[in-house]
Amino acid sequence: MKEARHVLITGGAGYIGSALCSELLRQGYQVTVIDELLYGGESLLGYLLHPNLHFAKANILEPRAVKDNLRRDWPKPSVVVHLAALAGFPACQAVGRQVAWRYNVEATQRVYEQAEELSVERFIYASTYSNYGLSPDGKPVTEESPLNPQSLYAETKIASERFLLNSKGNCAVLILRLATLYGLSPRMRFDLIVNQFVLEAYTKRELLIYQRGYSRSFVHIKDAICGILLGIESPLELVRGEIYNLGSDRGNYTKDQVVALILKRLPETRVSYKDMTFGGDMRDLSVSFEKIQRQLGFQAQYTLDDGVREVLQALQIGIFHNPLDSRYRNAQFIVQ
Ligand SMILES: NC(=O)c1ccc[n+]([C@@H]2O[C@H](COP(=O)([O-])OP(=O)(O)OC[C@H]3O[C@@H](n4cnc5c(N)ncnc54)[C@H](O)[C@@H]3O)[C@@H](O)[C@H]2O)c1
Repeated sequence: MKEARHVLITGGAGYIGSALCSELLRQGYQVTVIDELLYGGESLLGYLLHPNLHFAKANILEPRAVKDNLRRDWPKPSVVVHLAALAGFPACQAVGRQVAWRYNVEATQRVYEQAEELSVERFIYASTYSNYGLSPDGKPVTEESPLNPQSLYAETKIASERFLLNSKGNCAVLILRLATLYGLSPRMRFDLIVNQFVLEAYTKRELLIYQRGYSRSFVHIKDAICGILLGIESPLELVRGEIYNLGSDRGNYTKDQVVALILKRLPETRVSYKDMTFGGDMRDLSVSFEKIQRQLGFQAQYTLDDGVREVLQALQIGIFHNPLDSRYRNAQFIVQ
């Protein structure tokens, strides 16, 4: 029997949440998902009838959204994995500062406060390496490096982190700063850079790359799920109040290197480059993942090449009837 039997996932119908939900059910957990279904809920169709899944459609901005949507006949959740957010710079930019702040900061506060009242043991927050923005000295950034947000999205994620780290409640906070994900999920996102590049190279046979030399950090969705599971299962006193970058040193790539991997499989792609800034998310950094490896024993299993292969295969098979449909992205305009 697992110690943490019942996990509550906010945003559990999303790209990460639906994959996490499936893995937790597979491992025998009871799972409650609360999601407003901003992008639909087909991602959960395969699990809706599972006896260990309880799904509630609700907006976590409602003051009692968590408390009112738990099953009375289940034990209280011992872990909350808080994923619900307007994820990514374009989605935040599209709704503006006020709404982005409500969804990404106020919602975190409300969920955490209810977790406290429910005596939840641990609260895992999905943050982002975007918070670092730029590497001050060109070296890989660590959890200690200064935060230098380059976007409204990163500002909201930092504000949530600060609230949680200052909250000093009984419910232990664990912050995971995830690299940019890639790979297939029941709720597919084609606005994540690797997935997006594969889609464009496959459907349009061309790629336009901004800031080709800029470095980014990537992690496969399955590895990210393993990292979150470590967060759920590691001893509470080890992870209480800790921040971990979640990814692997092998996942640091320049955009040019990502393009090279795509060209290996789609050599007919025409690539053009532009070096212009567009007032957006100008991240350029590589990240150190030494802490999560050393303290929690995290090891990534997948490479970026695996991700390119699997996304391309899914497109070639025709899994997505219309992969360019807006439901596969969180906002209409895309930033690399
Ligand atoms: N995908 C990545 O590369 C990545 C990287 C770093 C951090 N993150 C973080 O991980 C989390 C999940 O990301 P994702 O890629 O799965 O995003 P996603 O957009 O696919 O999923 C977010 C889910 O949250 C739900 N949601 C949003 N606001 C809600 C609200 N107020 N009430 C109820 N449900 C709400 C949406 O309906 C959606 O199903 C986000 O917090 C994101 O910032 C993601």
